[in-house]
Parts: sequence; structure tokens; C-alpha cells
Amino acid sequence: MTVSDAELLDLARTAAGNAYAPYSGFPVGAALLLDDGRTVTGCNVENASYGLTVCAERTAAGRMIAEREEVDGDGCRPHIVAAAVVGLKASPCHPCGACHQVLGEFSCERVIVEGPSGVPVSIDFRDLLPHAFGPDSL
Ligand code: THU
Repeated sequence: MTVSDAELLDLARTAAGNAYAPYSGFPVGAALLLDDGRTVTGCNVENASYGLTVCAERTAAGRMIAEREEVDGDGCRPHIVAAAVVGLKASPCHPCGACHQVLGEFSCERVIVEGPSGVPVSIDFRDLLPHAFGPDSL
């Protein structure tokens, strides 16, 4: 079953409802679509230290790794077909630079954010991080 960009944004919006964001009051949700058709969601998790806050995209990436069913060796890397991001207090809500780097680790192809009236806007990942340092850089 394929997941549309609008459906992926809906998953991200639902995940944002679980955000733990008492300091910023800025709930964010992310939904990753993997090449096996699976979807994984995450939300931001803030901390009283502020600096230990984890963004929604990175909690989703952590779940993607932790909840893998089949791992074919240490080097087995999931492939993110698309990452949808929703901020409940602002749209569009684009991933921060740190999240670009983490999404890029898993060959993310596209980022989807909400445009005017919630219409999905798809951005080619290479336009976001054109000279990425990634697994092939080592
Ligand atoms: N945030 C995310 O969850 N993802 C991003 O890519 C940008 C920022 C969160 C972190 C923090 O909890 C709140 O938004 C305000 O910066």
C-alpha cells in the first residue's frame, strides 16, 4: 500500500499531539516513509536543560532503528523515501540543520512540509543538503 504525501503529513500531525514541549510550547511531529512501505513517527522531546531537547525527526529516526524487524549486519541502513514534518504552531515547519544531517544518514529522498492551507509541499533532499557529509564520505 502506498502512502500519499497528505497521509504522511496527517501521521506527522497526529504524532505532534504527543510532543513533550513544555518549554517552547512548539509541538512538532515527524513521519518517515521507508522503502519497505513502513511508516515511523516521532515528536519532539524537550528537557529542562534545554540543550538535551531532541527534535521530532530524530526521535522518529531513533524508533526507525530500534524497531527494525530484520537487521542484516551492523552496516544495514534503512532508506527513508520521504520525511513529513508538521509544527502545530507554525507552518511550514522545516527540519533544522541537525535533523537534515540525521535524515541524510538514511538516504532521505524528500522532505514534505505543509504549504498554504495544509497542501503538501515536497522538497528534494539534495536541495536541502547539497554537499552532505554522509556514509560515503568516509
Ligand atoms: N524542533 C523539532 O522537533 N524539529 C525541528 O526540525 C525543529 C525544531 C523542535 C525542537 C524544540 O522542541 C522546538 O521545536 C522549538 O525549537
